[in-house]
Amino acid sequence: MKWYTVSAALIAPSQAALRFGCSTLSIQRLDPLVEPGHVPSAHVHQIVGGNAFNATMTGDIGEKGTCTTCTFTEDFSNYWTADMFFKHENGSYKKVPIMQNTALPNGIIGGMTIYYTQKDFNSNGNQKITAFPPGFRMTVGSPTIDTLDRAKKNVGLRFVCLQDKGTRFPELPDFPTKPCKGGIMTVHHFPACWDGKNVDSPDHQSHMYNTAKEAFLEAGPCPSSHPVRVPQVAYETLYDTTQFNNMWPKDGSNPFYLAYGDNKGYGTHADYLFGWKGDSLQKAMDSSCMFNACENGRPLKSQGVAAMNNCAVKSAIKENLDGWLKELPGSGGMKARREVKFKA
Ligand SMILES: *[C@@H]1O[C@H](CO)[C@@H](O)[C@H](O)[C@H]1NC(C)=O
Ligand SMILES: *[C@@H]1O[C@H](CO)[C@@H](O)[C@H](O)[C@H]1NC(C)=O
Repeated sequence: MKWYTVSAALIAPSQAALRFGCSTLSIQRLDPLVEPGHVPSAHVHQIVGGNAFNATMTGDIGEKGTCTTCTFTEDFSNYWTADMFFKHENGSYKKVPIMQNTALPNGIIGGMTIYYTQKDFNSNGNQKITAFPPGFRMTVGSPTIDTLDRAKKNVGLRFVCLQDKGTRFPELPDFPTKPCKGGIMTVHHFPACWDGKNVDSPDHQSHMYNTAKEAFLEAGPCPSSHPVRVPQVAYETLYDTTQFNNMWPKDGSNPFYLAYGDNKGYGTHADYLFGWKGDSLQKAMDSSCMFNACENGRPLKSQGVAAMNNCAVKSAIKENLDGWLKELPGSGGMKARREVKFKA
């Protein structure tokens, strides 16, 4: 313990932590990571980030985008998760609106809150945090997970029944079972230990290793198989479920579904495609800036809410996602995605 204290003082660890908002870039059925080239993909995603987003994405994404829906203008990464739907007792579905998080500048349309932290909020654990290389991508979770036990083991993937936008506990491994006064938040933490070699892997996960514990606890050390500590990437998405609370089914069952037909939430998952320009993310991780103190060139270039909201990508698929729908779009849902996954 003493040694740790002394060496920490000598190394003067940096403690950068990024937290920023991104407005919605697109809501559509594309998945350049798991189903590259497939138009449409199996289920509906909400995507935020750079406008180079497309059915196929290769090369250095940081050089391809011309705008981003995120606060930091050098971040053309794409971040996405399965969207959420409400199922009425009469069998119709409706897309649940996404609302902006607390502690972000006002006016962000939909979107997510993105985090890049070090070993935890307060320390990098005396390790250099290495930014991802161009071409890097990963997923966390899987729509094929269908038991509560397996969902519990994915400690970084959680649901929060919001009383208000500031609610953070308790974190649940599956959907809340009662109406939530302030909406439902989904939380996705990615693993932060990298094998140091592969920018991707066939399952999009085995080049990474997770040592994170429950929320806000310090992560364990990276194993020798995956020795490189990269930023801890996490997403928060806030769904405004309140308009549906008075339509809760009489039998008490949860009426909310993730876009691949999951109303337990066990298969909650998220996708990340790195696209920071040049060494901008590394510069931020080597600094000691925290949250909005990283803006305005200290060290990251940033933009206001209007510019974020102005960036968008048109859907590549002609399908109506608004209003009451007869079925979940691409109603093959999970099954279709599973088949595609094993073919690849
Ligand atoms: C996506 O790719 C298609 C086919 O290559 C191309 O025609 C289209 O312009 C691209 N869209 C964007 C937003 O880059
Ligand atoms: C189901 O209920 C909603 C809300 O009342 C209504 O708008 C929709 O048309 C209904 N769908 C069917 C198939 O009756």
